[in-house]
Amino acid sequence: MTISEYNFAGKKAIVRVDFNVPLNENGEITDDTRIRGALPTLKKIIADGGAAIIMSHMGKPKGKVNPKLSLGQIRAAVEKAIGCPVSFAPDCAKAQEEAKALKMGEALLLENLRYYPEEEGKPVGIDKEDPAYEEAKKEMKARQKEFAKTLASYADCYVMDAFGTAHRKHASTAVIADYFDADNKMLGFLMEKEVKAVDNVLSNIKRPFVAIMGGSKVSTKIGIIENLLGKVDKLILCGGMTYTFSKAHGGEIGDSIVELDKLDVALEVEKKAKENGVELVLGCDSVCCTGYDFSTFSVKPGAQIKVFPSNAIEAGWDGLDAGPESRKKFAEAIKGAKTILWNGPAGCFECDDFTAGSRAVGEAIAEATAEGAFSLIGGGDSVACCTKFGLTDKVSYISTGGGALLEAIEGKVLPGVAAIKG
Ligand code: 3PG
Repeated sequence: MTISEYNFAGKKAIVRVDFNVPLNENGEITDDTRIRGALPTLKKIIADGGAAIIMSHMGKPKGKVNPKLSLGQIRAAVEKAIGCPVSFAPDCAKAQEEAKALKMGEALLLENLRYYPEEEGKPVGIDKEDPAYEEAKKEMKARQKEFAKTLASYADCYVMDAFGTAHRKHASTAVIADYFDADNKMLGFLMEKEVKAVDNVLSNIKRPFVAIMGGSKVSTKIGIIENLLGKVDKLILCGGMTYTFSKAHGGEIGDSIVELDKLDVALEVEKKAKENGVELVLGCDSVCCTGYDFSTFSVKPGAQIKVFPSNAIEAGWDGLDAGPESRKKFAEAIKGAKTILWNGPAGCFECDDFTAGSRAVGEAIAEATAEGAFSLIGGGDSVACCTKFGLTDKVSYISTGGGALLEAIEGKVLPGVAAIKG
């Protein structure tokens, strides 16, 4: 069943969205991309004459009630965004009355699903090494099924539209689908769009295909880097990863971030790139600083900033952004691309002194997009870069997924998709 074909008139639909949105100290939403992303689905349900029961997680409350992670904080914003009355059920597992009372043309927002450990389905308070762990896991899986069944009992049909959480096999993202027949469960519009965007960079590739992977660690990106080496024409590796590569070749990297246990992985990536005929593009110079505060994203008073070759950084200096030569190299490599994937910034873009690398990457992507490339941007930091540099309308698609997008591009089948499509 596809959502466009489905008529929600007179039906209650339980919709899994990813409203794990960032909030400030006052509980106000600082980025509503994910709420806007779910609107086409929610609005269709209401416009058809149906009712929506909206469920999501927020943060990682680890199976306990945590008012700071209450979805009640965003109820009003959700109501304004959809444009219909949205009530709130303060206990997602005991919302039978609220679901029953829900009128067509209205919506009900359930409290954070992760207040219940059953949502994630992992046993709590017991170590994996404990001999009783396997039994506890089995018991929790049974409880997870009951939890999913309760959620399913509120509605006539199920819509999975939480791309950001589609890589999790949780009660609300996957298990719940077992309690609906094939004609009454479907992916939402956002899921359809995200899956199509991933398909554009995995199967429907127009060449040259250039991927830009940034961020601080090789270890967290190695799965996707390996997968991309079999697909791309050029791979730009930037951000903190640069220094693991420099170090692997015996470079001096000062106080820059490095994964000393991944030097062999870096060399292996270079070898594989060569074997696959992929042009690997690494930064050659870096903007470095003598005192950066990572907690406040600011340069400490009196600290200096200077450019060094990325393999000759003096002790006491920390590489924090791509230098001018690297920026030229990156922009040159992106020019003329027809398919582009960007995940991870080229520097500590949160601080204005170190935005230039990420800005150069973003602007080169925008230019290539204007010339007909398909560009997919994913991961919180790259998306934040696009917002910061005013590029959101100049790229083809901004994904709402971080981990989910990476797993999809690694070629893994997302449990949230499998639950619907089998
Ligand atoms: C995200 O922010 O990436 C999604 O909401 C998934 O959150 P999780 O990593 O806590 O499952």
